[in-house]
Amino acid sequence: MSPSELSPRNARRACVIGWPIAHSRSPLIHGYWLQHHGIAGAYDKQAVTPDDFPQFLRALPSLGFVGANVTVPHKEAAFDLVDHADNAAQSVGAVNTIWFEGERMIGANTDVHGFLANLDAAAPGWDASREKAAVIGAGGAARAIIKGLLDRGFTSIHLSNRTEARAQELADRFGPRITCADWDLRAAMLADCSLLVNTTTLGMSGAPTLDLDLSALPASATVNDIVYAPLETELLARARQRGLRIVDGLGMLLHQAAPGFERWFGIAPEVTPELRAHVLADLGQSDLAAEHKPC
Ligand code: ATR
Repeated sequence: MSPSELSPRNARRACVIGWPIAHSRSPLIHGYWLQHHGIAGAYDKQAVTPDDFPQFLRALPSLGFVGANVTVPHKEAAFDLVDHADNAAQSVGAVNTIWFEGERMIGANTDVHGFLANLDAAAPGWDASREKAAVIGAGGAARAIIKGLLDRGFTSIHLSNRTEARAQELADRFGPRITCADWDLRAAMLADCSLLVNTTTLGMSGAPTLDLDLSALPASATVNDIVYAPLETELLARARQRGLRIVDGLGMLLHQAAPGFERWFGIAPEVTPELRAHVLADLGQSDLAAEHKPC
């Protein structure tokens, strides 16, 4: 694409790069903010193979892009390619947001911010006790969430994953505040935890549900699922039935987008009920947060 194809002239342009990329909701989120703020910018999807990714990333400025989001499977490659990675990206080992400072390509991991900002907005006081939290799963999302919990000052994080060696890798990476629990003992590790986070794909439409007995969680605990389709996973439904506070995964997706938008377009955007409704309409769902608000 040549700069002359950019429309309107001088409009700032960003994109999300993935392989495949058709499913990405990022253009919907950034498009909403661009329109809401009356910015003559653009944000589109770029399907780029792993082989082409390094070259594409380096060519971003010459293609007319001021920056990009990076998604599966490129986040780790992006970390290796940027000239500077922020603290969150260094801890997680993955970059999902890129911008330029002069000639330098800067990479950030905004999933850490997205995770914390979602809980802060949806469940104020969720971190009143920073003693014990439980995390299920040990993939890329788990890394960002563990980093967030450590930054927030949690003293003990209980981690369980079907493939136990992957949980151990994260414990080695993040240090002694992480304790691994055998997959078969995941229900017992919930005792005294003020927060439970599902970071796996279990519970997503078309995937099996997360088989986890919640009875050991204290009554004051918050349960967060990073899955957002469906919005109310079976895990959240069972937590709600037990009277626990629940936080769905859509907010993390929306909040992780905000720092990139601010870098590229110069305005700090807000995550509002209207934005949630906009994305939910696209997902063909109604709003859990609104449904369960006290009258
Ligand atoms: P991401 O980077 O999005 O977190 P990932 O690295 O593929 O994705 O991790 C997916 C997580 O879901 C992993 O913790 C995975 O467990 P394994 O490490 O054992 O693969 C977990 N997961 C996926 N399907 C699962 C299943 N059927 N049962 C238990 N855990 C599952």
